[in-house]
Amino acid sequence: MALDEQAAPSPVHFHDYHPTPADLRAEVVAGLALPQKRLSPKLFYDAAGSKLFDAICELPEYYPTRTEIGILRAHGAEMARRLGREALLVELGSGSSKKIRVLLEALRPAVYMPVDISREHLLRSAESLAAAFPGLQVHAACADYSVPFALPVDDHEHPRAAFFPGSSVGNFEPPEAERLLRRVGSILGPEGRLLIGVDLIKDRRVLEAAYNDADGVTAAFNLNLLARINRELDGSFDLDGFRHEAFFDADRSRIEMHLISARAQQVEVAGQTFAFREGESIHTECSYKYSIDGFHALARRAGYEAEQVWTDREPLFSVHCLVYRG
Ligand code: AVJ
Repeated sequence: MALDEQAAPSPVHFHDYHPTPADLRAEVVAGLALPQKRLSPKLFYDAAGSKLFDAICELPEYYPTRTEIGILRAHGAEMARRLGREALLVELGSGSSKKIRVLLEALRPAVYMPVDISREHLLRSAESLAAAFPGLQVHAACADYSVPFALPVDDHEHPRAAFFPGSSVGNFEPPEAERLLRRVGSILGPEGRLLIGVDLIKDRRVLEAAYNDADGVTAAFNLNLLARINRELDGSFDLDGFRHEAFFDADRSRIEMHLISARAQQVEVAGQTFAFREGESIHTECSYKYSIDGFHALARRAGYEAEQVWTDREPLFSVHCLVYRG
């Protein structure tokens, strides 16, 4: 190292548990073989999909991101007091790590561990974050957090906390969400805190506009799933042969996103043929919306006690501090 060089920021430790091409193939082929065709929303997030998602977060219709950031800005100091300093802080679905930046100054974790399925996006965000916060140890884990995972570091010296923003918990069916939160709890240990963002039930028009933006960014995000299958699994999807659809199912309290086949057609994926009827859908996402009480009930079933909840004025969105009681 040259004498005049500044101390380099601590490097990002990178732990790669990214699903393999064989995992992707098995998952896609199984989903397209179902009577109601399904593809998991975690498959949205290849490099192109992660960029499109970041564009969604800037849309005027997509209120969750800016509302949640507003809540973090307004109450960050109080949240930090709840979570405690010098923690090992795990973030699920860290994406561009934009939200944690709002809290880092107040939170001052000893170790920050972003977990995300989108490899390049995760690496780039983790590196820029490490550069902005010298002294912070960053362990980035590229992983599918919807399946059981263990922390890639053997650290028992710091209290643990978790951050699960964006209402990504809404992508899971409630029983699955319960299992996921329980797994997070077992990583946290008793008395560990989970700070989690949860989108609230509201007027259907507001919800549906957020998933049907005027610029068609959400449509492009949904359709990118087919483009990804074409790229990575030698697929033959004609992107003009499918259209984006999103609606709120009030009975199930969830947004559903689908890709609708414009005509009867056959598509090849990884050497297999899949037939579509005219109007047939691939169900690509559920995004559950909760009331505060409804989410508290879910949290209790998962072994947590609700310690505090913060919302915006309206309220559109909620951020909860939960304590794991085991
Ligand atoms: C990242 C799962 C929270 O459900 O609102 C945004 C994903 N899908 N627009 C959501 C999404 C369409 C988003 N989550």
